[in-house]
Parts: sequence; C-alpha cells; structure tokens
Amino acid sequence: MPGLYQTRARRLQPCLESLRAVTISNDQRGTLDMQLFLDTASIDDVRAAARYGVISGVTTNPSLLAKEGGVSYRQRIQEIAEVIDGPISAECVSRKADDLLAEARELATWHPNVVVKIPIDAEGLEAIHRCSAEGIRINTTLIFSPNQALLAALAGAAFLSPFVGRLDDVSYDGMELIHQCVQLVETHNLPARVLAASLRHPLHVTQAAMAGAHIGTIPPSLIPQMLKHPLTDIGIDRFLADARTAGLI
Ligand code: E4P
Repeated sequence: MPGLYQTRARRLQPCLESLRAVTISNDQRGTLDMQLFLDTASIDDVRAAARYGVISGVTTNPSLLAKEGGVSYRQRIQEIAEVIDGPISAECVSRKADDLLAEARELATWHPNVVVKIPIDAEGLEAIHRCSAEGIRINTTLIFSPNQALLAALAGAAFLSPFVGRLDDVSYDGMELIHQCVQLVETHNLPARVLAASLRHPLHVTQAAMAGAHIGTIPPSLIPQMLKHPLTDIGIDRFLADARTAGLI
C-alpha cells in the first residue's frame, strides 16, 4: 500500500522532527503520532516499564486482572494511574446497553485518565454511543473486522482496538485489519485512534507502527524482546575489551 505509506510518512515527518528532541515530556507524549501502551494489570510490570519513558498508557481486561490474585479492579487502576500519566483502559463486563452505561459511568469515576473499554456488539454499540455523548471516552475492544471499527468510530469511540494476534490464531492476517482500520480512519477523518491490540511479538509492533497504527498495546515481555539484538551485545563486549586494551577502564 505505497499510497498509504506515503500519507503516513508525510504525517509522521513533524513527529520524527520532534523526536530529535532529547526528551519527550508527558505533555508532548500525548500528542505523539505513535504511542506504546502496556497491556497488563500488574503494577510491578507497569512500574518496571515506566522507567524507560516509552509507555504512554495502559490497557487492562478481565483476563489480565484475573492473574492479579483478587486485587480490586478500582484499586489497581488507581495504582496504575499514579505511575502512568495517560489513558488507562478499564473494561466493562455488563452485557446490556443500560447496564454498560451504568458500569461505564462508575469506571469513569475511578480516575480522570480512565478510558472505558466496551466490546463491539449491538448492545455495546448503543452503549458506546450513549457513553460518548456523555463525554466518557471509549476504547472499543474485540474488533475483528473493518465494519466493526467503522461502526464504533461513527458511534463516537475514541479508540478502536483491532486484535491482531487473535486473528492470526485463526489463520487470518491480523495485520491487514490494522491497515484497513487506519485507512478508514484517515480516509474519512474519523475522530478515533487505531490501537493495535493483541500484539504478541516484536514484528507485530514494527508492522503495526509501519501500518500507521496510532497506538500499539504490548505485553510487558515485548519490551526486552524489542530491545534485544545479538549484534548490540557483541558490539558492547568488543568495545569494552578494546576499552580495557586502550586503558580506558
Ligand atoms: C487489548 O486491549 C487486549 O487487552 C489485549 O491486547 C489482548 O491480547 P491477547 O489476544 O494476547 O489476549
């Protein structure tokens, strides 16, 4: 999709210019074209990742919370919000639009940075519309088709979460869905951001970024994987050996 890449490249140019600044402040971070969120409910993982300064938000879901041994959802979201100054997604579990609205209103009181996650189905779509009309920011989750993304964006969702890995799991090209969602949003100037979710390995992150995803949410284990390169390790060892030879250390 060369046209799309060119459009994105033009759009990214000012961002790349700004990245030449030495430090990215939290204010600037909110305006970056490509952001990384952490996909976890573990406060230890959030604290560990925060020290690198590359995480702009956090996504959670009931499955991630279930791994945390009975901590209250509210408490955990508030702990995370103390560490990361950006959107923190908390997911609804109600199944009817009226109940989703009531639950979303409650989740939104937990912290000003809470973004409410609602799965995309008919009841969810109605709830997305009603919540958005009230000013509650919605992250639409479990998106597996461009039409689901389109409907969610038109209903007012702030974030669209297409799940890459879960599509790959059933032999579809998950990354193609990211391309389609980005193209929909950019072609029609929809006021929603594409949040590439269910990213499982470093190549997913690269491909989502290259496809123009505005955000990628990554499990904590991906940060060391993204950092690692054997030639970097070899190069550091060689420089240190030569530094000893040169009497620098
Ligand atoms: C995103 O919001 C989801 O919590 C997450 O990315 C799902 O990833 P999984 O398919 O690996 O469970």
